[in-house]
Amino acid sequence: MANTQRKILVTSALPYANGPIHLGHMLEYIQTDIWSRYQKLRGHECYYICADDAHGTPIMLKAQQLGMAPEEMIAQVAVEHQQDFADFNIAFDNYHSTHSDENRELASQIYLALREKGHIKTRTISQLFDPEKSMFLPDRFVKGTCPKCKSEDQYGDNCEVCGATYSPTEMINPKSAVSGATPVMKDTEHFFFDLPAFEGMLKEWTHSGALQSEMANKLNEWFEQGLQQWDITRDAPYFGFEIPDAPGKFFYVWLDAPVGYMGSFKNLCDKRGNLDFNEFWAKDSTAEVYHFIGKDIVYFHSLFWPAMLHGADFRQPTSVYAHGYVTVNGAKMSKSKGTFIKARTYLDNLDPEYLRYYYAAKLSSRIDDLDLNLEDFAQRVNSDLVGKLVNLASRTAGFVTKRFDAKLARLEDTTLVDSFLAKQEQIAEFYETREYGKAMREIMALADIANAYVADAAPWQLVKQEDKQEEAHQVCTVALNLFRILVTYLKPVLPRLSSDVEAFMQLELTWDNLGMDLTGHEIATFKAMMQRVDMDKVAAMVEASKENLQAEQKPTGPLADDPISETINFDDFAKIDLRIARIAKAEHVPEANKLLKLQLDIGGETRQVFAGIKSAYAPEDLEGKLTVMVANLAPRKMRFGLSEGMVLAAGPGGKDLWILEPHEGAQPGMRVK
Ligand code: MSP
Ligand code: ZN
Repeated sequence: MANTQRKILVTSALPYANGPIHLGHMLEYIQTDIWSRYQKLRGHECYYICADDAHGTPIMLKAQQLGMAPEEMIAQVAVEHQQDFADFNIAFDNYHSTHSDENRELASQIYLALREKGHIKTRTISQLFDPEKSMFLPDRFVKGTCPKCKSEDQYGDNCEVCGATYSPTEMINPKSAVSGATPVMKDTEHFFFDLPAFEGMLKEWTHSGALQSEMANKLNEWFEQGLQQWDITRDAPYFGFEIPDAPGKFFYVWLDAPVGYMGSFKNLCDKRGNLDFNEFWAKDSTAEVYHFIGKDIVYFHSLFWPAMLHGADFRQPTSVYAHGYVTVNGAKMSKSKGTFIKARTYLDNLDPEYLRYYYAAKLSSRIDDLDLNLEDFAQRVNSDLVGKLVNLASRTAGFVTKRFDAKLARLEDTTLVDSFLAKQEQIAEFYETREYGKAMREIMALADIANAYVADAAPWQLVKQEDKQEEAHQVCTVALNLFRILVTYLKPVLPRLSSDVEAFMQLELTWDNLGMDLTGHEIATFKAMMQRVDMDKVAAMVEASKENLQAEQKPTGPLADDPISETINFDDFAKIDLRIARIAKAEHVPEANKLLKLQLDIGGETRQVFAGIKSAYAPEDLEGKLTVMVANLAPRKMRFGLSEGMVLAAGPGGKDLWILEPHEGAQPGMRVK
């Protein structure tokens, strides 16, 4: 195909380095990966860049909680994130971290350029400060009572009950979520990015037509509300980059996060040697730069980021593509329902190609939310991929191998194949414009046609007839060519299946190869390529997602790590009759070297108990003391007499044994509960 080669840089939002990747995130990485794979399939020079977003207060505090250095924690998470992505066949050209030298240099360079041009303002602000932790508190780390509706336990920036937004200083009875201390107001000098100065440039960028219409509308709303200066400063302690010439002041995580796109690309350029950073980022760059993001982070990507780039004399993104949020079974992902599904839990149970296809089938270029309905998911994958697509090859390949020397025939009638090829422009257009759902529908409509053709021609009957061999060979050849074209169309979505098909058909599936003539081409033996979705596995995944939650909530410590007994409910506990007992009499038991014989007074009633405490107590030290006994233990006949209960003691044994003694005031016979 004669199309000019484009230079394209594509990014997905950089996931925070304090938590695992889940199926909500995966929508974005799958959407971007399909687009990047599509561009490469068309022969364009395309780089798909990502990184972990490693800075900020939540990451700093999480590391503290885990008793780790933040560097150590983000290194661990980086490995997990990249393994999840690799196993979902997300083909990044580079995956880096925002906590990198490249990013530090670029962030400082951009900041200094902005400062040079007067786009950085300095102002003293008053902010809530945790006197116990000696740190300023981000809004999210202040909790208190909503000033409007008086609901308790609300975050410092908005109320989840009445929806009011406010500043944490307006809250009633604010508390630090970090230490519980009452925060105090403290002055601090902060640097601000002068966003309002970029209004003209941003309006122009918005109206250039590169943005989704929902996004352009959103931007217009923000312009109407008036742009505000943006606080880019955080005071120590903070995990991030220190601001040049400002000791103890750090860049707010959202300043260096998008710079991380450049930092990761710079890292790739340095590794490759033949890739020019400036060709993609300089002001006069003719390359294309696209950011795929979720709808929650549009503000950062469509206002601050293009303005920062512009102010520091870099190019602006060609476009920013936002997508909606994933819901599962019609509701927000929920830990208790088991629908907050981690990438790893999915991978432990199901084939990643299923989810890639399902998301593709439901994605459009719009910002609507997308529901992962697990029943529909199984049904769709089974019917489309297994029933329609793979079936085409599985019903015909065997005949070619067994009867026709594994070679394809020369096509006598190319009408059907040509009609499939004629759809390539339309399908390409759908991929390019991120209308993957439309592309999948178009491709599956072709798969229906192909299956109807095979069902009609019934090669399994033709092969049984001596004089129909040639015809059978034709039908199988047509079917396998149609299969090849369909899998080429699906290659951006189904990389693993495509590579299995390439091995089976012994050729490379590329857009340019769509129209290839396979006369006499030899194929390999067909092997099963995709299992049906097993609903039991889906259920197991949901179940495991619930279990994960329980495992996570479990505290760690000696008791949790080495449980003594199973959890019991209150009724179980209430069955034990524990009583305060006065040791009326204690004596040695001749011939028993571990036991003392005790007479226990439980308020007018006396019980005899043999207790294994001789190694730690002399009888005379016990007499007259109070202790706790199990009064309803079934009596046990011992060599020396009847034991009618048990006293409670702690310790490993020998000299290290201590019987329980109640606080003063307890009386014999009182129930312990
Ligand atoms: N670290 C920031 C992005 C910085 S980009 C310079 C961040 N990280 S995140 O881990 O919270 O989210 C990463 C991406 O996943 C975001 O684009 C976010 O919108 C997306 N998603 C997170 N949960 C999602 C769903 N439930 N559904 C769809 N996308 C979701 O934001
Ligand atoms: Zn409220």
